[in-house]
Amino acid sequence: MRRRNRWLKTLFWGSVLGVFLALVLVFSGVAVGALEQREGRPVPQPVPFSHAFHAGGLGLSCRYCHSAVEYAPYAGLPPTETCMTCHLYVKPDSPNLALVRESWEKGEPLRWNRVINLPDFVYFHHAPHVAKGVGCAECHGRVDQMPVIYQPRAFTMKFCLDCHWNPAPRLRPREQVFNMAYVPDPELGRELLKLYHVRPPEELTSCNTCHR
Ligand code: HEC
Ligand code: HEC
Ligand code: HEC
Ligand code: HEC
Ligand code: HEC
Repeated sequence: MRRRNRWLKTLFWGSVLGVFLALVLVFSGVAVGALEQREGRPVPQPVPFSHAFHAGGLGLSCRYCHSAVEYAPYAGLPPTETCMTCHLYVKPDSPNLALVRESWEKGEPLRWNRVINLPDFVYFHHAPHVAKGVGCAECHGRVDQMPVIYQPRAFTMKFCLDCHWNPAPRLRPREQVFNMAYVPDPELGRELLKLYHVRPPEELTSCNTCHR
């Protein structure tokens, strides 16, 4: 009788452990899958537009093409007119620009492939980040050095929360938000945290900040 009891106990705890391990496997699999979707890989585009050349070499500000970033949730992509202000005159016959000219002539927008896509259940807004001194490079990396744009790190929940718990060391003066080369200074960051009235971590990490 006692032996049977022990055997049953072993069976019981064994299956609990089994279920637990299965859950761990499923969740780590899900997590790895999510990482693979977005991280690191350059996304091919219909037109070989280079950020390294236009933002890095020519020194065009991100604002020139992503003008909504300061006041809207979405940064937005530039209309073909923005390209044609230069490309009516610069390399007007280049085959690499054929699709751009076609879009201009037909009045149809270019169809770029999305590089980043947060799941729909996550709420994100660019403007408060720009307003409180979070640089583009904190999330998008050195875009000014990318011939083909890619997402340098996956936007996991941990990535967002790590900063929302303690933003001070990663803040910069507002006028440096678009400066790709700026390296934040933690000392100054603590001052900016007060100066810009950044909300306390309890609020920034509450679930409904990003899930609403
Ligand atoms: C001359 C216009 C121009 C400038 C300047 C520019 N971009 Fe872009 N950006 C684009 C275009 C066009 C796309 C879409 C094609 C692509 O992904 O390469 C894009 C795409 C992006 C994407 C990927 C969007 C997605 O999810 O598909 C990010 C991130 C981005 N830009 C950030 C920046 C940052 C940061 C700067 C400043 C350093 C910048 N851009 C400067 C035109 C520009
Ligand atoms: C401020 C001016 C300016 C703007 C705005 C601009 N470009 Fe350019 N672009 C240039 C210059 C200058 C070159 C380099 C020309 C050369 O190599 O002689 C260039 C090169 C290119 C090339 C490579 C052409 C080739 O023959 O290899 C592509 C493709 C291109 N741009 C796409 C775009 C697209 C798409 C946009 C809009 C999202 C855009 N550019 C906006 C100035 C601009
Ligand atoms: C706190 C992180 C963070 C910062 C800082 C940030 N971005 Fe983004 N950006 C994102 C996320 C997340 C997305 C994807 C949004 C989505 O898919 O809903 C995105 C998307 C984009 C896109 C794709 C088009 C769009 O409207 O979604 C562009 C372009 C872009 N960002 C440019 C910029 C520029 C320029 C800056 C600097 C002023 C900047 N971002 C600062 C996180 C950030
Ligand atoms: C490098 C630091 C940093 C990172 C990374 C970051 N955030 Fe933020 N976030 C901030 C700061 C600073 C604020 C502004 C707080 C304030 O307004 O006082 C903010 C504000 C927000 C707000 C606005 C809250 C509101 O109600 O006004 C949302 C939403 C948000 N972040 C979502 C995200 C998401 C989603 C991610 C990950 C994709 C992310 N953040 C990554 C620093 C960051
Ligand atoms: C600063 C923004 C932010 C806050 C605050 C936040 N989340 Fe998330 N959450 C995210 C992002 C971004 C993802 C998407 C991760 C991915 O796709 O890899 C996510 C994903 C999730 C998921 C889906 C499972 C997963 O890991 O992909 C759940 C469940 C979740 N969050 C619950 C919560 C709960 C509960 C809280 C409050 C304790 C919370 N979140 C607070 C940004 C946030």
